[in-house]
Amino acid sequence: ERGTGIKLHFKDHKGNSIKTIEASEGDDILSLAHEWDIDLEGDHRVIPHSSLTSPIGACEGSIACSTCHVILEPDVYDVLPEPSDDENDMLDLAFGLTDTSRLGCQVLVTKEMDGSDIRLPSATRNMFVDGKKPTHH
Ligand code: FES
Repeated sequence: ERGTGIKLHFKDHKGNSIKTIEASEGDDILSLAHEWDIDLEGDHRVIPHSSLTSPIGACEGSIACSTCHVILEPDVYDVLPEPSDDENDMLDLAFGLTDTSRLGCQVLVTKEMDGSDIRLPSATRNMFVDGKKPTHH
């Protein structure tokens, strides 16, 4: 049964709405994306050091990829538990890294997230294929 009560607005990097979903406290963002058929697998989804695109959640939540990279609102980011060292290391490899980036598989939904945006990063596969280093902010 799908969660209810906590609304999350998935958006692309330009702020265009992808889908609004309802979640329950304790759901993780990666599982929600799968459950609600949100296509997070655009061309920007690549495994570090590989030219292959990969489906979101390529490593199934074991912090060995960055395909589940999402960008949270600052208010939400601030109330969450700090990312682990492993997560920070993996985020460093993610394209389009921001100050409020997290790995979706490591983020559990809280009540404070109700009504907030979950943005997808802007980086593109072309940046990678061209061999340019990703720009970190
Ligand atoms: Fe690989 Fe989240 S699914 S780090």
